[in-house]
Amino acid sequence: MKLLVILLFLGLLTGCSGNSNYSLTPQLLLVSFDGFRADYLKNYDLPHLQNFIKEGVLVEHITNVFITKTFPNHYSIVTGLYEESHGIVANTMYDDITKKHFSESDDKDSFWWNGAVPIWVTNQLQENRSSAAAMWPGTDVLIHNITPSYFMNYSSSVPFEERLNNVTTWLSSSNPPVTFATLYWEEPDASGHTYGPEDKENMSRVLKEIDDLIGDLVQKLKVLGMWENLNVIITSDHGMTQCSENRVIHLDSCIDRSNYSIIDLTPVAAILPKTNITEVYDKLKHCNHHMNVYLKEDIPNRFYYRHNDRIQPIILVADEGWTIALNKSSLKLGDHGYDNSLPSMHPFLAAHGPAFRRGYRQSTINTVDIYPMMCHILGLKPQPNNGTFSHAKCLLVDQWCINLPEVIGIVISALLLLTILTGLIICMQSRASASRPFSRLQLQEDDDDPLIG
Ligand SMILES: *[C@@H]1O[C@H](CO)[C@@H](O)[C@H](O)[C@H]1NC(C)=O
Ligand SMILES: *[C@@H]1O[C@H](CO)[C@@H](O)[C@H](O)[C@H]1NC(C)=O
Ligand SMILES: *[C@@H]1O[C@H](CO)[C@@H](O)[C@H](O)[C@H]1NC(C)=O
Ligand SMILES: *[C@@H]1O[C@H](CO)[C@@H](O)[C@H](O)[C@H]1NC(C)=O
Ligand SMILES: *[C@@H]1O[C@H](CO)[C@@H](O)[C@H](O)[C@H]1NC(C)=O
Ligand SMILES: *[C@@H]1O[C@H](CO)[C@@H](O)[C@H](O)[C@H]1NC(C)=O
Ligand SMILES: *[C@@H]1O[C@H](CO)[C@@H](O)[C@H](O)[C@H]1NC(C)=O
Ligand SMILES: *[C@@H]1O[C@H](CO)[C@@H](O)[C@H](O)[C@H]1NC(C)=O
Ligand SMILES: *[C@@H]1O[C@H](CO)[C@@H](O)[C@H](O)[C@H]1NC(C)=O
Ligand SMILES: [Zn+2]
Repeated sequence: MKLLVILLFLGLLTGCSGNSNYSLTPQLLLVSFDGFRADYLKNYDLPHLQNFIKEGVLVEHITNVFITKTFPNHYSIVTGLYEESHGIVANTMYDDITKKHFSESDDKDSFWWNGAVPIWVTNQLQENRSSAAAMWPGTDVLIHNITPSYFMNYSSSVPFEERLNNVTTWLSSSNPPVTFATLYWEEPDASGHTYGPEDKENMSRVLKEIDDLIGDLVQKLKVLGMWENLNVIITSDHGMTQCSENRVIHLDSCIDRSNYSIIDLTPVAAILPKTNITEVYDKLKHCNHHMNVYLKEDIPNRFYYRHNDRIQPIILVADEGWTIALNKSSLKLGDHGYDNSLPSMHPFLAAHGPAFRRGYRQSTINTVDIYPMMCHILGLKPQPNNGTFSHAKCLLVDQWCINLPEVIGIVISALLLLTILTGLIICMQSRASASRPFSRLQLQEDDDDPLIG
């Protein structure tokens, strides 16, 4: 039935425009601008992005996953899993069982990624479909023995324009058609680290550049005739907060370096004690009250960050804006990775296309909810995940969407209507059976004001 409607619609479009290459399978382009903090949308002038939102949907802030770092969150977007479940638990990792190391520049070993099945793999296992990636963490790695059919090896020096040109080419002229594609850009993360999010002057210049790239993206899709048919999601992995040289915790002043290995440093430090865990823990515990020190088994439930061998025996979580360092060393003015309940760590999500409503805004969903929504759009059966499809339902045109106040309103109206109808029916019945004289009298009273009672 739904297919019939879509076919009819497509037929109509084809008839009108005389253009005959609309792909029948929905297509989705997933775009990430790294480190795009949610409130940049409120605090900076972003006309192209605002236009995109006007014709589509906006989720004002996304509750991302802990730790609020790049690789872990990008993998959660495409798997719908918490970090402990997909296994990319940091940008820098160590596995004590296999003695393997992982870093942003040494990420090609499938071992790290195979704990989950990203959406580009699932998409590609469908008949007549392929996936493409103009970068995204993991897309240049064999995961379950598969890469996207079309991808780029990661290199920050490839300009946005080249990434955009190549991904749109793949989306428009591949066989079997590319139905899922990613596009990744390093900014505003890089500048957020350098200047700090409170440097309004520098950040407004950087964000204007990004807004222009979004303008280029939309323009390109319009020129290629893809704008109305392609579903586009623009989102990000995390936000950014201001750091300061006045907010640094020096571990060297609390504990001898020979007592532990440091796997990851700031703002969430991963500590592998060399001998007695309790001893190391006690020293760190009393080091500085601007960080929380957790034994692995005591990491709060809400972080969903415990059940994985790659999470080290002790983690230190700095307070917002604080930096963990070994000694006096250079410092970033902006950083992320902190508690995922902090608004400054949240990104946003905007989307446009035939699958999305127009001019709809919603305050929040979770990063893990994006995956089941994307699977729905592409008609894919989702892998087991931690997302909730109904959280994103209101963004989609083909879903019933009602919020609680509306539901209450509808229920009350329905009850009222039912009462009126019942009243009327009782009236009619008593009118019909009115044969005795005194019942007629009573009826006339009722007739005057049938709504009362
Ligand atoms: C895949 O494409 C071929 C050729 O166009 C077609 O015959 C076949 O039915 C398609 N399969 C599916 C599942 O759409
Ligand atoms: C990526 O790099 C590998 C090894 O450096 C190379 O063999 C492969 O052809 C490259 N793939 C693409 C798509 O550029
Ligand atoms: C983009 O496409 C052009 C033309 O096919 C190709 O020469 C170039 O290597 C591609 N860029 C990347 C980063 O793969
Ligand atoms: C789509 O249509 C345009 C002209 O309308 C044509 O140039 C292009 O080759 C077509 N693409 C495919 C994949 O059929
Ligand atoms: C931007 O940052 C640079 C270097 O940190 C600084 O010198 C400059 O004053 C900042 N502001 C502007 C508007 O460039
Ligand atoms: C731990 O550090 C102390 C100095 O604070 C040192 O005496 C001790 O040998 C270290 N223990 C190990 C196992 O490295
Ligand atoms: C570790 O150190 C604590 C306190 O110093 C001590 O009570 C405990 O017995 C030690 N455990 C081991 C296994 O050595
Ligand atoms: C600070 O730590 C770095 C390693 O992080 C080390 O190379 C350097 O020598 C240390 N500097 C001082 C003054 O201890
Ligand atoms: C997340 O999903 C995975 C896969 O279904 C499951 O194993 C895990 O228990 C889930 N985590 C939570 C906290 O529900
Ligand atoms: Zn970053």
